[in-house]
Amino acid sequence: MATGLKGIKTVRDFELEGKVVFLRLDLNVPMENGKITDENRIKASLPTIQYCMEKGAKLVMASHLGRPKSKDDKEFSLEPVAKRLQELLSAEVILVEEPDSDAPKHLLQSLKKNQLILLENVRFEEGETKDSIEFAQKIANYSDIYINDAFGASHRAHATIHALPSVMKDKGIGFLIEKEINMLDSLLQNPKRPYLAVMGGAKVSDKIAVIERLMDIVDGFIIGGAMAYTFLKAMGHPVGKSLVENDKLKYAKEMIERIEARDKTILLPVDHVVTKSITDTAGARTTKDVVIGEDELGVDIGPQTTRAYATALHEAGTIFWNGPMGIFETEAFSKGTFGVAKAIAESNATKIVGGGDSAAAAEVSGYADKMTHISTGGGASLEYLQGDKLPGLEILRSKR
Ligand code: 3PG
Repeated sequence: MATGLKGIKTVRDFELEGKVVFLRLDLNVPMENGKITDENRIKASLPTIQYCMEKGAKLVMASHLGRPKSKDDKEFSLEPVAKRLQELLSAEVILVEEPDSDAPKHLLQSLKKNQLILLENVRFEEGETKDSIEFAQKIANYSDIYINDAFGASHRAHATIHALPSVMKDKGIGFLIEKEINMLDSLLQNPKRPYLAVMGGAKVSDKIAVIERLMDIVDGFIIGGAMAYTFLKAMGHPVGKSLVENDKLKYAKEMIERIEARDKTILLPVDHVVTKSITDTAGARTTKDVVIGEDELGVDIGPQTTRAYATALHEAGTIFWNGPMGIFETEAFSKGTFGVAKAIAESNATKIVGGGDSAAAAEVSGYADKMTHISTGGGASLEYLQGDKLPGLEILRSKR
């Protein structure tokens, strides 16, 4: 049984007709020159918004976008998001510039059906990242029900995630958080076996806590990305100029020993794509074995490794994927990551992608729609899996 949601109400538990619902979303989408380049988080927010609209709630939506230093950082405006929401919802989305003013309150008095309020980037307010009760109280004054559906930001103790629900009586989660937690719980409780965790990305240190937690749960780890070189160097293999965390070598060696002592597997690359510099794609080569030349660095797993990983993944019952196998943003170094994405997509396992770079890799590789679930929260999903309490969830949990 999933326990992550115990004591937490959902949007279904409230009578919404005529009520002001403050809906915290994670609409923190990547943008280039004012254009949204990936709208997954917007689309993932729609079910809760639409449910609230259908039930006759007056909606005040809010989100952060990026990490602005001040209100003048206009490139962090939610305006493009408001426009996109308006198209997707076929409703008028009114962007309110001053979230801490009386403007939302006044607007709410005359808000028509098919009109929704979206507060401008809450991080334009100093109080947001300070978890300010004063800022929260201003919003609480005009809100009846608080709903958090911002899974990707639930690991942040910020005002609209934490202080605000702390001063509100009626509070709960939306459909996105409910799905995210149920999916992540399925990785922790009775996962179908064999259960493999595919870990990649730059640093072992970013993944230590989650590897520790998963060590007793998974049947094996598959390691790629730059973090593999720390493990390989720890085992005495020459890794040339590859990115290595030298202060984690002892830890990496002990980790391999502890995984093997539990009769679990840890697969590491047996060949690589290497180059003399990450900008030198023309001079890249594939190694014959695990050895990397002194003046070379590893930028992707090699074909033998990709095949071995694919074979293991084919047999899996559950797969958790977090982190790319190489610098997949550069085409010449993307084959390993995309090969692993393909193998995951083709396996019959429950396959869950842990947000961030791996979500982007699943998307770019074209296999996103073959995954069971792609989390909208990179940091949040890792923190949840490694057993940390998410402030945005804990504040909603009734103690009784
Ligand atoms: C994310 O993109 O991971 C979330 O939106 C949280 O953003 P943050 O790391 O800036 O708090």
